[in-house]
Parts: sequence; C-alpha cells; structure tokens
Amino acid sequence: MINIAVLGYGTIGSGVVEVLNTNGESIRKRAGAKINIKYVLDIREFPGDPISEILVHDVNIILNDPQVKIVVEVMGGINPAYSFVKEALLKGKSVVTSNKELVAKHGAELLDIAKTRNLNFLFEASVGGGIPIIRPLNQSLTADEIVEITGILNGTTNYMLTKMSEEGIGFNEALEDAQALGYAERDPSADVDGHDACRKIAILSSLAYGMQVDFEDIYTEGIANITDVDILYAKALDARIKLFASSIREDDENVYAMVAPMMIRANHPLYSVNDVFNGIYVRGNVIGDVMFYGSGAGKLPTASAVVADVVDAAKHLNKNIWTIWSSKKLDLINIDLVKHRFLIRVNKKKEILDDIKALFGEVEELTEVVKDEFAFITPLITEREMKDKKERIPGLIGSIRIRF
Ligand code: HSE
Repeated sequence: MINIAVLGYGTIGSGVVEVLNTNGESIRKRAGAKINIKYVLDIREFPGDPISEILVHDVNIILNDPQVKIVVEVMGGINPAYSFVKEALLKGKSVVTSNKELVAKHGAELLDIAKTRNLNFLFEASVGGGIPIIRPLNQSLTADEIVEITGILNGTTNYMLTKMSEEGIGFNEALEDAQALGYAERDPSADVDGHDACRKIAILSSLAYGMQVDFEDIYTEGIANITDVDILYAKALDARIKLFASSIREDDENVYAMVAPMMIRANHPLYSVNDVFNGIYVRGNVIGDVMFYGSGAGKLPTASAVVADVVDAAKHLNKNIWTIWSSKKLDLINIDLVKHRFLIRVNKKKEILDDIKALFGEVEELTEVVKDEFAFITPLITEREMKDKKERIPGLIGSIRIRF
C-alpha cells in the first residue's frame, strides 16, 4: 500500500478522491500497490462527507508523517502551495500537482530538488487538463528537436468562443456558463486575458527546449476584445477565431512565443477543436506533425491526469524520472520581428483604399460584411510594422491576426 495526501479539496481535489474510489482496483493493478489517501488537507470542514475522517487542517501533520510517500497539490496559486510542495520534496516525498502557476514559476527549481533526492515532481494536469502532453514531451518525443508547439490551451475561452460563434450568445453569458461548468479560474481574467494559456505554453516550451522560458517574457493578448462582429467576419471568411498559444523555434538560438486570438481556416489542424476541448499541435524535426486532443478543463478529466501521475510516482518511488528542463534562461526573440497577416476593419468606405495601399501595398479587400465598414487583409508584415502603421490607418475599428 502506498499512502498519499491530497492538499486541497476543491473541484480537482474532490475529483482525485472520486477517481481513486471509482477506479481503485484497476489503478492498484497499474501502480503495483493500493493507493491509499491517508489525509486530505483543507481549511474548510466538510460535514457528512466521508473524507471528514481523514481531513486535517495542519499541513505539518502530512509533512511530518514518514508514511506519506506522495503529496498531491491541487490547491492552486503560488502561496502557500509553493512552500508546501518544496517542503514535501525536502522531506523526501514525491509531489504531483495540477498547478500551472506553480510549475511555470518554480518548475525548474522543484524538478531540481526532486532530481537530487531521487524523487519525482510531476505535473501532467497543469497543461491541457486530461490530455497527456507533458509525458509525451518528456518520454515519447525524445528523438526529436521540437520546432513548434501551438495549442488551444485554455478550455474556458475555447468554450466561450465556440458558444459565441455557434449559439450567438454574448461574451458575459458565455463566461458565466463556463464558470457554472467549473472550467474558469477563480479570477476569470486569468482565462480571458490569456494568462492561463501563457503559463501553459511557458511550461511546454521549457520542457521542449530544456531551458527556462519565463512566462513574463511571452507576449500575451486575451479574448476580451473579441465581439460578435469579429465572429461575423470569421464566418464570412469561412474561418474560426481561436486563442492560440504558440512557441516556434526558428533555429537553435531563435525561439518566439506568444498568446493571441487568431483566425484560422479548416486546413489548420486546430480548426475542429471546439467547446472546452484543448488541442496541442507539436512539430518535431524528424517525426513531423503530432496532435493531442481532449478535455482541457473540468473536474474528472483533470483528476484523471493527476491520478495518472500518482500511478507514475508510485511506480518510480526512489527513482527520478529525468526531464531536461534546466533553470538556464532561454531568451526569446522580440515579438516585433514576428510576421503575421492581419484582418483590419475601418469605419470608412473604400475611398480610403489608396491611403491603405500606400501604407500596406496590395491588400485583399473583403466584400461588405458589416454596413458602413470596410475590411481588408494585409500582406505578411512584422508586428513592429503593424504597430507603427496602426496609428496611421484612417478610421481604424479593430484588427485580428490571421493564419491562413
Ligand atoms: N481555467 C482553465 C481552463 C482550467 O479553462 O483551461 C484548466 O487549466
């Protein structure tokens, strides 16, 4: 029997207990031993819930119990999760977490502590909910140099964009639905402003390139400015709007990463990733294209990934599973140098076409989608050029990057 403790009895923590209760027997076979939850830590009481019998409020009971071999941290946030996790590792316990903020900020340090003590720090659930992506990057795609990772990594915003497009509901209603379904972060701006996807692409990039990619360095735009009019344009272009998190390695020295809404067409592999689903497209220099798809958020999919890590930790007690993520910082190239095409909307008629052509050269004109608006698609230009030219576009209403 292997004793574990679960820190946090919220959505994911209760999911972990449920998964271990539902699939206990098959999990025992796979782990080679029964996984026994010895403690659940939470500041709250849960009267009537069977976990009350193992509920503790003081983390030291768990940290000082040598029988606890694996600690599952599903509290979220940096404090106090970071100190609890670090202390657990220092006391010889492996740690499994779903906490992307913690992994993005302190992953390299915590992996290093685990490595030097023959323990494991595992975080499959921190990216892509239930989708296996961390383990494939660490253990399956090891023959490749990864040259691109592009993902729809936030279930909440993908759910919102899908509902806005398919059901015509507004931004706020879509967000309320996502919150009711348990997909959204406690602070929903983490989802809608792109910070959650930013941390996730930082984690994947650090693992893929073996160096620390700081999330603070990643250019990040969310979906807060996307309106029903943008959706109309997407439909007129046979396209969809997706919040993309991308990390692209142009050569050994040059990697850029960004999070931003993107218009894509059916020929893009992520076009059909709708609703709360996440999709992650990985390109390796020898394998070519690989896709990962599944539920990106929610109680049981995320708990499934957490418990799978518990099984892995149980199978590797006292043996570190090697990862190449080092604390050496990877300097990303300036986003100003990255090129995109942009769909631009102006509140003037075509009379300004000459001004537009003077700014951008030949553009692709759209037939009228919205009355009294003119819209066009630029050639491939750098982010810097777009920033500089934006101020000179007459009657600018909005713009969005397109990848087709
Ligand atoms: N709020 C996150 C999402 C939860 O919507 O993807 C899973 O990390």
